[in-house]
Amino acid sequence: MRDVAAAPTRSRVLPRNDPRQYDDLAGEWWRPDGAFAMLHWLAEARAALVPPAERPGALLVDLGCGAGLLAPHLAGKGYRHVGVDLTRSALAQAAAHGVTPVNGDVTAVPLADGCADVVAAGEVLEHVPDWRRALAEACRLLRPGGLLVLDTLNDTVLSRVVAVHVGERLPTVPRGIHDPRLFVDARALVAEAARHGVALRLRGVRPEVRGLLGWLFRRVRGASGAAPAGRAPRIVPTRSTAVLYQGWGVRKG
Ligand SMILES: C[S@@+](CC[C@H](N)C(=O)[O-])C[C@H]1O[C@@H](n2cnc3c(N)ncnc32)[C@H](O)[C@@H]1O
Repeated sequence: MRDVAAAPTRSRVLPRNDPRQYDDLAGEWWRPDGAFAMLHWLAEARAALVPPAERPGALLVDLGCGAGLLAPHLAGKGYRHVGVDLTRSALAQAAAHGVTPVNGDVTAVPLADGCADVVAAGEVLEHVPDWRRALAEACRLLRPGGLLVLDTLNDTVLSRVVAVHVGERLPTVPRGIHDPRLFVDARALVAEAARHGVALRLRGVRPEVRGLLGWLFRRVRGASGAAPAGRAPRIVPTRSTAVLYQGWGVRKG
């Protein structure tokens, strides 16, 4: 399948976090400055947490893989990349980028215990009504010594303001894509991961300010047809985990 480079195609109003939104936005996934642009920046930052594979045939399971935006950033690291997602239109695009697609729910993944050297759960836990179940599945899939990497939105007032009330007014976050009631309390996540044998470390992340402002400026100019392509904002660590955070940890052997 070729990359689709169309304008946003959303034609209906759906409830917050309704997965059908990803079908309506299917043409946006691989547009570098499209509605999912920030997912590209986050995918690069997530992949930076993944070391090269330690053995031939190592498996990385990408929970809620979407259209496979992680794939280019894993190139050369030596993993077989399997992606699990509910949304078939996204999985078809992931497959076109070298991801082995599995149509399924991250709360009941049809893969064997301990099959994965790495499990990635990028920007998915905050979309799942039972994130604890999804985390349990992520830990179940990991082999002893395997690595979990994730990023998600914290369950704080600040996160609701930044990601929903502000973010959804900017071109960085599609309107209605999040239901803030599902945001993931960072402390509860660490405690839950520990229960499943994974000592999770967290750090806050955010887009670098200059890069973000430049990107927004180009986007606004682009809307009137004059945008030069430019460098994508980098995701950088920040002191607070109150909004967006990454987590990583190894499953006990
Ligand atoms: C915000 S996107 C993130 C996609 C990808 N991880 C990335 O960072 O580019 C969330 C993805 O999770 C998927 N998703 C949401 N709930 C899911 C569930 N319960 N099981 C599997 N996939 C789910 C959606 O279909 C969508 O592709």
